[in-house]
Amino acid sequence: MMAAGYLSLAVFLAVTLNHADRWLRAAGTAAVALGLAMISLSILLADLDGTLTARMNAPTPLTRLTPFILNIQALVAGAAVPFLVWAAWAQTRRVASAPPLRNGAARFGLLSRYAHWITATLMLCSLPMGLFLSVLPGGSPERATFLAAHETMGLTLVIVVALRIAVLLTTPAPGLPQALQPWERRAARTLHLLLYGLIVAFPASGLLMSAYQGADVWFYGWLLPQIVAPEAKTAALWAAIHGWLLPAVFYAAILAHVGAVLKHHFTDGCVHDVRRMIT
Ligand code: HEM
Repeated sequence: MMAAGYLSLAVFLAVTLNHADRWLRAAGTAAVALGLAMISLSILLADLDGTLTARMNAPTPLTRLTPFILNIQALVAGAAVPFLVWAAWAQTRRVASAPPLRNGAARFGLLSRYAHWITATLMLCSLPMGLFLSVLPGGSPERATFLAAHETMGLTLVIVVALRIAVLLTTPAPGLPQALQPWERRAARTLHLLLYGLIVAFPASGLLMSAYQGADVWFYGWLLPQIVAPEAKTAALWAAIHGWLLPAVFYAAILAHVGAVLKHHFTDGCVHDVRRMIT
């Protein structure tokens, strides 16, 4: 139920952010602002009601870091809210035409844009949700609910990425913006490949971790069959990959991706290029 809600939100954002109607576009951006404000607020509430402080006594220093990382995410999400409110206001004043379904030479088509924003929403919600559920007490009903939603969203992402690659094979992506330096092109291509790799590696490692733990894995209410025999050591390895290695690489990659987009838009003054992915 919770995962279906997040998937509906992802589809709603993908459609509205790329809609020809400027009021719908602005509504999409305002919904992102609202979603981020709610994520920030729920982390703040978990600070206040002691859910996060309980984690300060966790057995390992790395695990004790989780509340700190969640609070940083709350801060970043909160800081983005006023910027998005301004962007929504600016969108109400800008008339734009809807892109065609398929990719063109200069801009992405609707199919690629939908896949991009559905992937981004599911990914950016799965990450804090994974952190959040890891601070909830084992065996609690809240943890079970969040875990089932987390697993369902992660596995849905694999399907969306497969569809996204199928779309790219039938309608190739437009080339990178002309204004980019050769080193910027190389960096952009490497970063895009890394992001695709991470989007697949997160669910794959989560699935293997749960399978080796012998834990139940849920997908929209269905219990998936056990794929391997439980083994504690292998489970611990996948847990470290899923819980620490991949998030660390992801934070660096997403910072570079968003930083590059903002630099290109604001510092290099290429205001039309970002609109390849947002109408
Ligand atoms: C986009 C996909 C995913 C992302 C970004 C993601 C990210 C995360 C993160 C950051 C944590 C917190 C780790 C910690 O601090 O201990 C976590 C926890 C967890 N994830 Fe994922 N995950 C994804 C998909 C999945 C999938 C598909 C499964 C299983 C089928 C899964 C199973 C788990 C479990 C069981 C935990 C709890 C670990 C614990 O504390 O016991 N994840 N996830």
